Amino acid sequence: MDPQKTPVILGLEGTAHTAGISVVKGSEILINKSTTYLPTQGGIHPREAADYLSKHYPLLLQEVINELSINLKEIDAIAFSRGPGLGPCLRITATIARALALYLQKPLIGVNHCIAHVELGRMITPARDPVVLYVSGGNTQLIAFLNQKYRILGETLDVAIGNALDALGRSLGLSHPGGPNIEREASEGKKLLLLPYTVKGMSFSFSGAVTAAQRLINVESVQDICFSFQEYTFSALAEATERALSCTKKPSVLLTGGVAANMRLRQMIQNVADEQGVEFHVVPKHLAGDNGAMIAMAGTLMYKVGEFVEIIKSSVRPRWRTDQVKVSWL
Ligand code: ATP
Ligand code: FE2
Repeated sequence: MDPQKTPVILGLEGTAHTAGISVVKGSEILINKSTTYLPTQGGIHPREAADYLSKHYPLLLQEVINELSINLKEIDAIAFSRGPGLGPCLRITATIARALALYLQKPLIGVNHCIAHVELGRMITPARDPVVLYVSGGNTQLIAFLNQKYRILGETLDVAIGNALDALGRSLGLSHPGGPNIEREASEGKKLLLLPYTVKGMSFSFSGAVTAAQRLINVESVQDICFSFQEYTFSALAEATERALSCTKKPSVLLTGGVAANMRLRQMIQNVADEQGVEFHVVPKHLAGDNGAMIAMAGTLMYKVGEFVEIIKSSVRPRWRTDQVKVSWL
């Protein structure tokens, strides 16, 4: 391993609904392919999502092999999303990663999915030592680096913000995922309806707001419900972010995860950053949700410090928390 050379890393993302394969060289994305399972009704069923992944990985891999500008032999390591996530999905992804590592005779890197959302943001934006607001379908956390770990300063006490948006979206008859549809409806809302607002220290909760918003269905307009839901829940996230910045004195804030695609949330966190006099950075919309590039980029940092996992020890970690990872690359 030449420490001066930028490694070429293949990343596999498959913790829940998305199968993603990407090859990166540092912050340069050579290829990034993904496909997402959409439930016909209700939320994500783990077995159905895993079946979807096992059916689509071979097709995606074929596309990657056909379109990749470099030879497969130039890949230095295989990184995969080891957890947290749905067990059946993680196991399919890990099996493909192990097979690729064996076939190409390259090391295997087991990446924490939440940390990958953070590392993608650090690689492709100028954010240095940020307070991270990580908002997605399965997680909502305020994170900051201290003493070799990404510490969780605050997090949701019940459901994740993306999950809350998707649940409300379903009740309103909007298609899955609800987040983007709620954003569209909210842009036409005007009336601020009263909803529960819960911030405890640097943590927050959203299920009360979901229930209260559901009770307003057929009483108030869809647009006003969506508008009010965004205002209340995003304000709670903004307040907790402000507190985290003021406590840690970190120089920037980074917004990442699927819900980071939301323009109203971006605007609110930008305002907090401006008032605190810190930089604001956000991942681009097309890389906000789950993708293979984020796994490959976190894998790149881990490769540089030789953070590999033996195949025999590479079992998946469905409940692997952000603050359980020893961050040896920082
Ligand atoms: P994680 O495992 O990190 O929790 P995830 O499996 O939920 O990730 P992501 O792709 O990171 O996957 O996030 C998906 C979530 O992002 C969904 O809940 C979706 O509704 C939400 N989302 C996507 N676009 C928007 C948007 N424009 N506004 C609000 N929410 C959005
Ligand atoms: Fe994610």
